[in-house]
Amino acid sequence: MTAYLITSVSVVGAAPTDLLIRDGVIAEVGPGLTAPDATVVDGTGLVALPGLVDLHTHLREPGREDAETVESGSRAAALGGYTAVCAMANTSPVADTAGVVEQVWRLGREAALVDVQPIGAVTVGLAGERLAELGAMADSAARVRIFSDDGHCVADPKLMRRALEYVKAFDGIIAQHAEEPRLTEGAQMHEGEVSTRLGLIGWPAVAEEAIIARDVLLAEHVGSRLHVCHVSTAGSVEVLRQAKARGVRVTAEVTPHHLLLTDERAETYDPVYKVNPPLRTAADIAALRAALADGVIDVIATDHAPHAVEDKECEWAYARPGMLGLETALSIALDVLGPEWDLIAERMSRTPARIAGLTGHGVDPAPGVPANLTLIDPAAHCTIEPAELASRSRNTPYARMTLPGRIVATFLRGEPTVLDGKAVK
Ligand code: DOR
Repeated sequence: MTAYLITSVSVVGAAPTDLLIRDGVIAEVGPGLTAPDATVVDGTGLVALPGLVDLHTHLREPGREDAETVESGSRAAALGGYTAVCAMANTSPVADTAGVVEQVWRLGREAALVDVQPIGAVTVGLAGERLAELGAMADSAARVRIFSDDGHCVADPKLMRRALEYVKAFDGIIAQHAEEPRLTEGAQMHEGEVSTRLGLIGWPAVAEEAIIARDVLLAEHVGSRLHVCHVSTAGSVEVLRQAKARGVRVTAEVTPHHLLLTDERAETYDPVYKVNPPLRTAADIAALRAALADGVIDVIATDHAPHAVEDKECEWAYARPGMLGLETALSIALDVLGPEWDLIAERMSRTPARIAGLTGHGVDPAPGVPANLTLIDPAAHCTIEPAELASRSRNTPYARMTLPGRIVATFLRGEPTVLDGKAVK
């Protein structure tokens, strides 16, 4: 294995130091290190963070390899500074059996660009009627611990209760896509002033808040772990704040796009802005940012949702919801939070790794820890060219925008997956 000496790098915002990577781990940390056999990476002006961990990625394989594969999504993740991603279960076939989650896990190992941790479906075929083989997925080689019907809500309260009870046995988590389906029938965007003006059917905030309120009560009753996907409203933040204050075992994520973009984007009728849950208002964004800072929201997760051109570049009403996220998340976080490196490490690496139970990830560079890290140039800017993204899809809402920060290198267990801003393989 090649050794790497990263010189004069700021570790999570601290004063510059050197990092020596050898045999997959951080061997030494300190100023003035020498290692004649090591490849030197000049870290001057760069910030080293523990490799980012995404709790919410759609990799589309098996089934929609035209939109993304485990390999292309893994490459996009590495270029975005990630060393681990959790792959959502809404593939085709659905990841609701040990066989499918093992397939995704094996494809991740073969790509070897990030650690791919499959998420299993809660219900068979995401149909919301019968529990999937949660135990078999947990016992499989993929060792699934997070289960989600994401894209669909587990709307039946009895099924949600059973799922929470089932996973309690192995300290698993149910990650809920909180959307009361009866309140969002036909919905095209956030319900509010803009939807009224555009004449589009609205997706009311209460459809999310009602499910979160119900589920925190169920999780409290059962004593099990609940994770709330893509929180998007100020009201949801308040429900979560109260639940956490009571000690409910609930964690929550917010996406980069819900931290930055408002429902006014729908005025363009450009389906690139169609996403589920929908983009909300400036007041929601302010509440989400405050919750991220004070810890009511634990994690930034991308909800990277690649879609083929024919599914996205069509009339708004027919376009699939979802946007790319892996290659731009760190830049959006930097834009929104500023150079708050400790907060960024907490929300994008340490906490998501802890929630997912991914040992070896989410640990700050220090002697003896696995060398999973990313190097960022905070002074650089990047202009997003959709055709240059590693994802197989093009549905980024940030096309041709200039964003702060640039990922210079990513290391997975001591081997670079990205160097000089380019994928190594
Ligand atoms: O916008 C979304 N797209 N939200 C989801 O919950 C699912 C995702 C997808 O799979 O495309």
